[in-house]
Amino acid sequence: MDFQKIIMKYNLSRYILPTLLVVAIGCSTAKRDITQTSKKKSSIDRKVDSLLSLMTLEEKVGQMNQYNGFWNVTGPAPKDGTAAKKYEHLKKGWVGSMLNVKGVKDVKALQKIAVEETRLHIPVIFGYDVIHGYKTISPIPLAEAASWDLEAIRKSAEIAAAESAASGLNWTFAPMVDVSRDARWGRVMEGAGEDPYLNSIIAAARVKGFQGDLGEFSLAACVKHFAGYSFAESGKDYNTVDVSHNTLHNVILPPFKAAADAGALTFMNSFNELDGIPATANAYLQTEILKKDWNFQGFVVSDWGSMGEMVAHGYAKDLKNAAELAANAGSDMDMESYGYVEYLAGLVRDGKVPEVKINDAVRRILRVKFQLGLFDNPYKYCDEAREAATVGKKEFHYGVLDVAKKSIVLLKNENSLLPLKKQGQKIAVIGALADDKTSPLGSWRIGADDNTAVSVLEGLRAYKGNQLTYAKGADVTLGNPAFIVETKINMTDKSGFAEAVNTAKNADVVIMVLGEHGLQTGEGRSRAELGLPGVQQELLETVYKANPNIVLVLTNGRPLIIPWAAQNIPAIVEAWHLGTESGNAIALVLYGDYNPSGKLPMTFPRAIGQLPMYYNHKATGRPGGEAPTESVFWSHYGDIDNSPVYPFGYGLSYSKFEYANLKLTANSFGKNGKINVSVDVKNNSAVDGKEVVQLYIRDLFGSVTRPVKELKGFELTEIKAGQTKTVTFSIDEKTIEYYTANNKWEAEPGDFKVFVGGSSDTKMEAPFTYSK
Ligand code: NOJ
Repeated sequence: MDFQKIIMKYNLSRYILPTLLVVAIGCSTAKRDITQTSKKKSSIDRKVDSLLSLMTLEEKVGQMNQYNGFWNVTGPAPKDGTAAKKYEHLKKGWVGSMLNVKGVKDVKALQKIAVEETRLHIPVIFGYDVIHGYKTISPIPLAEAASWDLEAIRKSAEIAAAESAASGLNWTFAPMVDVSRDARWGRVMEGAGEDPYLNSIIAAARVKGFQGDLGEFSLAACVKHFAGYSFAESGKDYNTVDVSHNTLHNVILPPFKAAADAGALTFMNSFNELDGIPATANAYLQTEILKKDWNFQGFVVSDWGSMGEMVAHGYAKDLKNAAELAANAGSDMDMESYGYVEYLAGLVRDGKVPEVKINDAVRRILRVKFQLGLFDNPYKYCDEAREAATVGKKEFHYGVLDVAKKSIVLLKNENSLLPLKKQGQKIAVIGALADDKTSPLGSWRIGADDNTAVSVLEGLRAYKGNQLTYAKGADVTLGNPAFIVETKINMTDKSGFAEAVNTAKNADVVIMVLGEHGLQTGEGRSRAELGLPGVQQELLETVYKANPNIVLVLTNGRPLIIPWAAQNIPAIVEAWHLGTESGNAIALVLYGDYNPSGKLPMTFPRAIGQLPMYYNHKATGRPGGEAPTESVFWSHYGDIDNSPVYPFGYGLSYSKFEYANLKLTANSFGKNGKINVSVDVKNNSAVDGKEVVQLYIRDLFGSVTRPVKELKGFELTEIKAGQTKTVTFSIDEKTIEYYTANNKWEAEPGDFKVFVGGSSDTKMEAPFTYSK
């Protein structure tokens, strides 16, 4: 700890030196508890213990209290109401963290109070939802997952961290690692889709990107929502969750474990109940699994108000009871319920919450503050010059453009419509989203201003060789989209159809940009219909009659249900909400200056009735396949096919990849053994391209039933035109292990299949066995 530097730079000796000295000397009196797993304490743990020994019960509880931003620092200090109360609490050292305060000026003003005016001078940790960028916005996380490019994803998180850390923030409430099987749930945009393995490795990449070396351009990550939130019944946000122990362990928890293993410093619990117990009071999740089984040393913050919501759940009698239940279950910090700050000290005095629980929580919180270097320099993130030099940097634009182009998925390309010719074409561009500079910013856009994304039209106009005409056709939303209630909005206006048809008639190619507004997905934005909102489907069909040469560019935050388009429209490009550089990325792909390489991280269903829908489902006792189609008694619908429109892992390229020669080095392996699996992938085209070669397995029987396919590996590989690459994977006990009927992760002897291909519906397979 460089006292001299801090003292000189910030003239803080009067305020912070006494605390730092006591902390540095180290005199632990705290009781031993579950965080004290290692006999030899790290120097940070010794400092934490020292500081803890100086704290009153109220000060300890204060560290467990997080408030939303409450004070416009350029105005006078708040005098009454909640803001005044929060202000008083901050000055007393009763606020451990704040959220939704950003910008060096504001953060510094609040930190100054914590560091200079409180008895122990403990810095506040400032959190924000930096989900896909701060000022320079990256693609939504679901889109980034479609890149299957871990380095691009890591880099995108690193950019988000650099901009927000330069703006005073210390902590992001990301990554969300909820495995999402139901596209009705608005928050599918915030995660990596339906597969536990893909979610796991992307979770680790994002944690590494955000946290980096924990230097001045890094943020602490917060892995959320622990756990089960995405399994809301009928895809309705905040709804009841009822999942099996088997699904919890095999599907929901693996990405959380991967993020913890990658070093994530914090976790957030969730709004939902699990097995009848709200996650905020769920000791099985927070204490047993996370802190004991996984030996997680960071802290758990509640979700916004989730402690208080336990009263509405019908689980806690009142807020005081909720605080008791949450603290005893291992929720370390209360986000905006006021439960801890109001009641926790009293609950300890009344013997309802053991002080050792409080000590454990506070230790965890202080430890993270030490790890971030906030005790060394509470203003580490508060450098105005750095803020000005960092936010919105040109190189960040290149970074988000890179991941944006890689996130695009080519769904269909008939009649060689794509890539577009660069000269002499009359191109009609249709759709409100083509001219939209806000929607591509997606659902979380912290520091970005409206109208700052590159629109599709702008991206296309950068290519000068063609003649471009534009017609809006129809609106996607009306009113303030931040609070869209679709049923209350008149989205039936078809007055723009005639102009769209006329524009299309005279064109060689029609580019229709349709989909969802950026704020039609995200938290609280579940949808019961997943077609194109408003009259966009009708617009599409009307324009198609005038000119079927359509390239449909979808911009949306979740899988949409588009069977008609998939059947009729010759070219379809899934372009999600791609962030600040959206239009440039889309233009690069449409013109072939980037050969699309994305693959879907979520299944595109055929009909809403199929949801939840995911490739890695169980077989059931009546899986069909072999069953005669005229039979009724198998697991199917009478009115539509069981298949999706586009499966998980699917995506085309301007190259044509062919798979051959699936080879296994052996057809069985035993304890500590392995098999290598190789396949030849030929680029049978004249263009260089990239392919995501995917490895799946099927465990044919087990102590509990097993999915029909499970992703177990992939390689994103570049293959030059005309060349063949051999891609090799290995399969060992780690690959086949799962959470068995013995309630542990293990490899069970048995028969398996391995599948290799460019999508989850690959039929290229070979058998193998495992015996102990
Ligand atoms: C509620 C959301 O569920 C959570 O993801 C977010 O981090 C908090 N609000 C804070 O904004």
